[in-house]
Amino acid sequence: MTKFEISASILAADFTRLGAHVQEADAAGAERFHMDVMDGRFVPNITFGPLVVEAVRRCTRRTIEAHLMIVEPDRYIPDFVKAGADIILVHQEACSHLHGTLQQIHRLGKKAGVVLNPATPILTIADILPEVDQVLVMSVNPGFGGQTFIESSTDKVASLREMIEQRKLACAIEIDGGIGPANAGTVVRAGVRVLVAGAAVFRAPEGVAAAIARLRGSVEAP
Ligand code: DX5
Ligand code: ZN
Repeated sequence: MTKFEISASILAADFTRLGAHVQEADAAGAERFHMDVMDGRFVPNITFGPLVVEAVRRCTRRTIEAHLMIVEPDRYIPDFVKAGADIILVHQEACSHLHGTLQQIHRLGKKAGVVLNPATPILTIADILPEVDQVLVMSVNPGFGGQTFIESSTDKVASLREMIEQRKLACAIEIDGGIGPANAGTVVRAGVRVLVAGAAVFRAPEGVAAAIARLRGSVEAP
């Protein structure tokens, strides 16, 4: 069985009871928490900053990843590290000196991931791939939760996996946007190791625990 992890995206959680919602997902076996930081400039929406990451850090010992959808991410990376993020994800499109940004993250002792928007080709990160711990393929345009999965993302994952395997690199592939029981199995078979899921975890009518079990089950027994 192919190994994969679920990263629960707190963007879809109930912020009036964020701690309880996070702990519910933690107890149900979500391996990671995904935190979408938006600045209203790189994306047309504003969410939260290090303060909320720090609050979630106090609710779980699981891996926390900060997905920075902000311009000039270099300026804020130390703040998110201090807040307790284990993985920092920066957009290829937002970094003028991506190599330097990844070095900064590594110097701070954290894992570094690069995010690709739907229109950004994987070739743009071919040279930097050995420095990357994780590539996050956006399967929606970033900015909002609950959008529809862009079908061509599966082929993008498959090409990226080929590129990683050919060069014998250790980089993991993650996918973000519109993921649920209907497509999770397909993307994992294409090469995804980390499934980000917001609405499918926190907005499912059956509740968080049952939703996580259903998502996991959809991959394990398609
Ligand atoms: C979108 C965010 C996603 C979002 C995914 O810009 O990067 O992490 O929370 O939400 P769903 O799983 O609901 O599409
Ligand atoms: Zn995200």
